[in-house]
Amino acid sequence: MWKLSKHLKLSRANSELERLLLERTAALQNLSHRLLILQDDERRKIARELHDNTGQTLAALRMAISCLQESCKANSAALAMASDVAQLADQALDEIRTMSYLLHPPLLDEVGFPCAAEWYIEGFSKRSGINVKADIANSPERLPKRVEIALFRVLQESLTNVHRHSGATDASINFQHDAEAAILEIRDFGRGITRERLLLLSGASAETGVGLAGMRERLRELDGNLEIQSDGQGTSMRATVPIRATSPPAQFEGGGEVGLSALA
Ligand SMILES: Nc1ncnc2c1ncn2[C@@H]1O[C@H](COP(=O)(O)OP(=O)(O)OP(=O)(O)O)[C@@H](O)[C@H]1O
Ligand SMILES: [Mg+2]
Repeated sequence: MWKLSKHLKLSRANSELERLLLERTAALQNLSHRLLILQDDERRKIARELHDNTGQTLAALRMAISCLQESCKANSAALAMASDVAQLADQALDEIRTMSYLLHPPLLDEVGFPCAAEWYIEGFSKRSGINVKADIANSPERLPKRVEIALFRVLQESLTNVHRHSGATDASINFQHDAEAAILEIRDFGRGITRERLLLLSGASAETGVGLAGMRERLRELDGNLEIQSDGQGTSMRATVPIRATSPPAQFEGGGEVGLSALA
């Protein structure tokens, strides 16, 4: 009798603990979901501010320097100085434009993932000196907006990782999708990740950087996943996202999250 009541108590405590665990996990997932949406919104806002405010101020400065150059043609020392200032203003304009595009590429809202990806890969290759072979399937149908954002962030983070960690001179990107799923694979031919590190990274340990954890979280929210394969020949990151018939495609989705078209 005593044994039975103890068993009952234990089993009740166990169910209570399980319930608590489920509740906390759901609360944490909810929080990370909201944080990711906030991060996207914040990036979009900063991108717009940079482009519309700082970018416009610099453009005005550039025009003023052109006038200055006209009016000091006779003074070669002043003209040389004005040319230096013009060059610095051009450089600052370029930097602001690149930064705002990277924070939230306007192309993504307007023309969709495949074109935005081509543009990003081309810029990445030029800046990093890494030769990237891209095979990006382009179809007229748009993917759901959240899928497009997730895929773009996976592309950005994976390429940044290739640049920072792999030491590779060559990489390849493959993107395919049908009505059921989208698959994006980023492969490099660099030093790879050691088995021990890979093991640490596959757990939920604090060893994981923000990059991999963020990619996993974005994909998990869409019921997708990230597979990492690595050896001495290089690393491959493969993101798979199911496409639900119920999700509206990107250009039909409304709401405050869209709309950096003014940046283009
Ligand atoms: N392409 C790669 N080649 C070699 N190592 C890689 C590659 N991608 C990731 N790694 C390893 O995985 C680790 C985790 O990557 P993750 O992006 O999560 O963090 P991070 O890049 O170090 O920092 P951050 O939080 O700024 O992204 C890296 O520190 C690196 O050791
Ligand atoms: Mg990273």
